[in-house]
Amino acid sequence: MMDFQNKHILLGVTGGIAAYKAVELLRLLKKAGANVNVIMTESAQKFVGKTTFEVLSENPVLSDLFFDADAAIKHIDLATGADAAIITPATANTIAKVAHGIADDALSTTLLAVTCPVMICPSMNTDMYQNIRVQRNLDILEKDGWQILDPDSGVLACKTVGTGRLPDPWFIFDRVEALLTQKDLKGKKILVSAGPTVEAIDPVRFISNHSSGKMGYAIASAAEKRGAQVTLVSGPVSLEAPVGVEHIDVVTCEEMADQMLANLDQADMIIKVAAVADYKPIDPKKSKIKKKDNNKDLSISMIETPDILKLIGEKKTKNQFLVGFAAETDDLEKNALLKMKKKNLDMIAANIVGSKDSGFQADTNKVKLFFRDGTSFDIPLMGKDKVANILIDHMIDKMG
Ligand code: PMT
Repeated sequence: MMDFQNKHILLGVTGGIAAYKAVELLRLLKKAGANVNVIMTESAQKFVGKTTFEVLSENPVLSDLFFDADAAIKHIDLATGADAAIITPATANTIAKVAHGIADDALSTTLLAVTCPVMICPSMNTDMYQNIRVQRNLDILEKDGWQILDPDSGVLACKTVGTGRLPDPWFIFDRVEALLTQKDLKGKKILVSAGPTVEAIDPVRFISNHSSGKMGYAIASAAEKRGAQVTLVSGPVSLEAPVGVEHIDVVTCEEMADQMLANLDQADMIIKVAAVADYKPIDPKKSKIKKKDNNKDLSISMIETPDILKLIGEKKTKNQFLVGFAAETDDLEKNALLKMKKKNLDMIAANIVGSKDSGFQADTNKVKLFFRDGTSFDIPLMGKDKVANILIDHMIDKMG
């Protein structure tokens, strides 16, 4: 998660049943450290009380430009001081007003003065949403450079099923993060692999490892927020696919190899975070292997799997930047450098696995980056999302 300290967010709430979700979004923004100023329309206050937003934002809510003497000046201060403005839920009425520059309440007037990025989250009945006038107004705002967050489909408050539902607050929060992130990877295509691979022994048992996918997913998500077009090839994990990322599910090493190689040519940067099984059973059984009395030992013959990273290292062009990970229990530097050389990598991110707060499963990681030019960089223990951004900073730096 990005650091929202010193970020000023304007949260505009208009009169829709989904106004309650804006309360949860406010909580997420506050928890991340943002300073949030809420502006409510008159009809929004029929759905959720002003006090709720005032208590949670720890700021007065602006709703009437003429109620207190300062408000007329204050809305300009709020507009000029904002890093981002989010209108959620956005009704057809407010969308129409702001698309045409009408300023007849605190929110629409403030929005005329903002210069920061704006995101509009429409939420309404499907027929209203699909109405040509609403679509035309959304088009106007999009052409003006405002971001429109498409509503979800599902059961709506009016008991109909269709498009018009406000996305979940965590999803909107994720998009606010993206809105605030500098797009230094715009135009770049990034291919990431994450999670474990799974190789069958029989229909019941398998060989795999402890990878949760957290490190690879954090990199895919950070790259997407920084403007890259990201393809994520993932082994079986229980994480939600990162927003805005093309997601390809695989199970075995061979499947991962196929997908990585199929997507290789278009990629500018390739980051191989997945923990791949180095060996697989030679002959996976069609039926469950039965336990036999008097049989204390069981041997399974194994065969080497393709080394995907090495294959990519052999194929990569000089314009492609290739990054591998090294999961080590000892001799971190020596093993990482060997892997970088053997697999023709531009950079390797080495982490010690087997501890509780780093490597597999943990939310944090401690990584040492080694580069082809002989330099290195230590990333101390921190959240995997932060590690992801530092790793990307270094890739951009080395790529020039
Ligand atoms: O998923 P998490 O729970 O967040 O954990 C993160 C992680 C520990 C899995 C990650 O940080 C990590 O270290 N990933 C690399 C794991 C690994 O397989 O390391 P390795 O040293 O065995 O392999 C070196 C490199 O070769 C890796 O980039 C790996 O993807 C690649 N490889 C390995 C074998 C193989 N057959 N094909 C490969 O491409």
